[in-house]
Parts: sequence; C-alpha cells; structure tokens
Amino acid sequence: MVEAQVKRSWWRRHWVLPLGVLVAAFVAFSLPRYLTLDPARTRVPQPGDHTWHYPFLVGHVVFGSIAILACVLQIWPWLRREHPVWHRRAGRAYVFAGVLPAGVLGVAIGAVSPFGPVNQAGNVLMGLLWLGFTITGLRMARQRRYADHRRWMLRSTALTLSIISNRFWAAGLGLVLPDRLDTTFGGSEVALLQAIAGTSAWLGWVLPLLAVEWWLDRSRPGRRQPVKSPGRPGVDG
Ligand code: HEM
Repeated sequence: MVEAQVKRSWWRRHWVLPLGVLVAAFVAFSLPRYLTLDPARTRVPQPGDHTWHYPFLVGHVVFGSIAILACVLQIWPWLRREHPVWHRRAGRAYVFAGVLPAGVLGVAIGAVSPFGPVNQAGNVLMGLLWLGFTITGLRMARQRRYADHRRWMLRSTALTLSIISNRFWAAGLGLVLPDRLDTTFGGSEVALLQAIAGTSAWLGWVLPLLAVEWWLDRSRPGRRQPVKSPGRPGVDG
C-alpha cells in the first residue's frame, strides 16, 4: 500500500520525463528517413499520380515533429510555472511551426491516403479537429480566458500525442489480424492492410480524446459539490 503510494507520487512528479523520452524516441525513429528527401525511403507510397504527395508528406513530418516536441514542453507544469515567457515561445512554435502547417498538410495527404477510405476519413477528421482545437485554444489565450485555453490545448495535445498510440495499435493489429487473412479478409492482402491502417487511424485518436474529455470533466471545478434541491415553494420555504 505504502509502496503503491510512493510509486504514484513518483509518477505524478516525474511523468514528463518518460513522456519526453517516448516522444524523442518516436521522432528519432520517424523523422530521419524523411530528412534525406529520398522518395524511395518513404513508408507511405505515392497514391495515384499525386506527385505533390511526397513533398507534402515530408513537410507534414517535419512540422509534426516540431509540434510533438513542443507539446511536451507546453504541458510540463514546471516550465509553465517557472518560465512563463518560454511557455509562450514554445506555444507559438507549437501552433505556427507545428500544428498549423502539419495539420493542413496532414489533411491534404490524408484525403488521398493510399491506405483506403476508412483511414482517409479518420485522418481528415482528426486533422480538422486538431486545427480547430488548436486555433480555439490560441484564441482563448489571446482573450485571456486561461481556463478555456487550457481545456482546448489539452484536447489539441491529446491529438498530437495520439500519433504515438496510433503506431502501437498498428503494430498490435499487424500481429493479430494476419491470422485471419484467409477467413475475414478472403485472402486479400489489400483488405488486410486497409483494415489495419483504418482501425489504428480511428482508435489512435478517438480513445485519447475520450480519455482527456473524461479527465477534464472529472477535474471540473465544483463537480464534487452536491446539487442542492431547488425546493418546493410553500413547502420548503
Ligand atoms: C494530429 C494530426 C495528424 C494527422 C491528421 C496526420 C495525418 C497523416 C497522414 C494522412 C499520413 C500519411 C499516411 C497515410 O496516408 O495514412 C501521415 C504520415 C505521417 N505522420 Fe502524421 N498526422 C498527424 C500528426 C502527426 C504528428 C504530430 C506527427 C509527429 C511527428 C506525425 C508524423 C507522421 C509521420 C512520421 C508519418 C509518415 C509515416 C511513417 O513514416 O510512419 N503525424 N500523417
């Protein structure tokens, strides 16, 4: 029991470190192949004759990397508390050199994704929500509505970090679903690939967003106060 409390309090104080390591590892694994500007090294084949797809993808990965690294700084309570000027600077990088360009490019490449219509729909909706949450969070900060700013930016952060959970789903489904190639997918490798990409695209962001909504609701001020009965006139005074 005591040990459990100690473990929890360590996690509460130091959660940003493992998160930072995970994000840095993700960027170190994902980004370098796109910095070579060699289309042969992409993991996403060009769909149809959309020759713009590769440069858009490279731009998306570069700006997405800025977004995901900056978002770890943004949610680090120590930086917000002790260095508010750096919080604002990293926030501008998150929005203008991260989410806005990465999101616009992500929606464009998502709309023509070679991984099928379920994946396309999941990515386009996620990209539009990402842009919408982030722009709303920025507007709230500019209006000095900081509680609302925090809520919208936490939603934006959930989507930014969800790109990592997307990869875990894809890896897990890539292990489990091939066993069903000849049954569920009728022997079609294309159907199998699209099922893995589509399912991980949706689960990857919907679950983290639901988790953040649940957490925001749980930590809403005054949530635990009992609701007073309005009373009946003439009976309860
Ligand atoms: C949150 C909104 C995002 C959307 C809508 C989005 C959308 C996409 C799309 C459509 C692709 C092409 C693959 C496909 O056709 O399915 C892609 C690839 C990629 N995205 Fe994003 N993305 C988002 C966020 C991010 C973030 C924050 C990063 C962080 C670095 C990132 C890193 C990558 C990488 C590395 C690839 C290339 C695939 C690979 O090599 O694994 N994305 N993304």
